[in-house]
Amino acid sequence: MATKPEVQKRIQDEIEDVCGADRLPSYADQENMPYTHAVILEVSRLHSIAILGVPHFACQDAIIQGFRIPKGSLVISNLWGIMHDPDVWKDPYEFRPERFLDDEGAVNVPMEWIPFSIGRRVCLGEKLSKMELFIFTTHLLGRFSFQKPDDVQSYDFRGRSGAVLTPAPFKICAIPKGTGE
Ligand code: HEM
Repeated sequence: MATKPEVQKRIQDEIEDVCGADRLPSYADQENMPYTHAVILEVSRLHSIAILGVPHFACQDAIIQGFRIPKGSLVISNLWGIMHDPDVWKDPYEFRPERFLDDEGAVNVPMEWIPFSIGRRVCLGEKLSKMELFIFTTHLLGRFSFQKPDDVQSYDFRGRSGAVLTPAPFKICAIPKGTGE
């Protein structure tokens, strides 16, 4: 948000349009806030927290798109690869929330959006996380504007890769809204 003031402003405008100045959004507001929803989807795609799914074993022989997967094979889904596949996502390394909005401005989530993994055994916390992402994003942006401090040249968006992808330490200014940001 600190590097994209225009995105930040559009989310803040959407919060105010839908909720007015006196309250912050609840999860039920998300359906009326397509741009904010699209930004969360795009952040989750571009810098997905999990790069690979958890390893699973095939419990029976299978053939998927001509590939033979014998029973007992270790199968790991390449979440990062699928969410950065240029055949699916135009300019996959660009931050472009509009890719999730159709011509009417409604949210459209392609099946290749899989930050919570793929198949029957996906993340158990998916629903909770979707709510939290929306609530945290809108409550922070409803109360603050974020800016890069003057002494910071740029941010390192590559993250730190461990069990999950976490942000590198960063400095940021959170300016309460209505205080002349
Ligand atoms: C944005 C936040 C989150 C993301 C992107 C995420 C993503 C994932 C992914 C990719 C997996 C691996 C699924 C697989 O391939 O087998 C997973 C598994 C899991 N996640 Fe999450 N997760 C998130 C938050 C949470 C939260 C908040 C909880 C708990 C409250 C949670 C609980 C679990 C559990 C229990 C599993 C293992 C499921 C199983 O194999 O039975 N996750 N998550």
